[in-house]
Amino acid sequence: MTVSIRNLAKRYGDVAVFEHVNLDVAPGEFVAIVGESGVGKSTLLNCMAGLDSWDEGTVMLAGQDLGPLDGDARALLRRKLTGFVFQAFHVLPHLDVAQNIGLPLMLLKQPDEGRVERMLAAVGLDGLGARLPQQLSGGQLQRVAIARALIHNPALLLADEPTGNLDPATAAKVLDILIAQTREHGASLVLVTHSEAAATRADRVLTLTSGGVALR
Ligand SMILES: Nc1ncnc2c1ncn2[C@@H]1O[C@H](COP(=O)(O)OP(=O)(O)O)[C@@H](O)[C@H]1O
Ligand SMILES: [Mg+2]
Repeated sequence: MTVSIRNLAKRYGDVAVFEHVNLDVAPGEFVAIVGESGVGKSTLLNCMAGLDSWDEGTVMLAGQDLGPLDGDARALLRRKLTGFVFQAFHVLPHLDVAQNIGLPLMLLKQPDEGRVERMLAAVGLDGLGARLPQQLSGGQLQRVAIARALIHNPALLLADEPTGNLDPATAAKVLDILIAQTREHGASLVLVTHSEAAATRADRVLTLTSGGVALR
């Protein structure tokens, strides 16, 4: 899916987090975003998902301008077009693994048709669908989050430091699954990361500073 960001600025009062951010993502492209802590990487990703507001500029997803949409319309578009993977997993503790993964299908009123089972297998969690999140390791939890983010075949996957809470060996495995599954689904991937190993896998690596994004 195409993402097109023009002259985006985010401010808190007089203090700018970032300005002059221009960014295009092509369908199926994998873009990594790096930058110092606090520079606004999560904010930018949240703007891309319509989860945060901005003060100047435009965000377009698949040709649709998010600016004029109200919160409900943004939520609908987000649900349909995007999947989000957070550093802290954000799985729902009272739902089992299969229910967590199937949640987007339920919200979109789409039939399961064995998709949850196939997704469990694809991320290496075969047979663990009935477990509760507390019965999983961090690496397994992040694979649940990846499966959930892709179950409804979104055209854009947004991932905010998804391996930041994992040990290096587990992080490498989870990254492999994240990239393989994104490619398999033909989705675009925007990955915020501190990991050099992750960045080198991307089609493009962009550095965010307070003055904009630049090719690294
Ligand atoms: N409510 C707020 N008021 C003022 N500044 C904020 C607020 N929320 C976030 N910030 C600032 O926005 C900046 C960007 O944060 P964030 O997007 O989380 O950065 P990153 O993900 O690159 O570490 C930070 O410097 C943070 O201090
Ligand atoms: Mg962040």
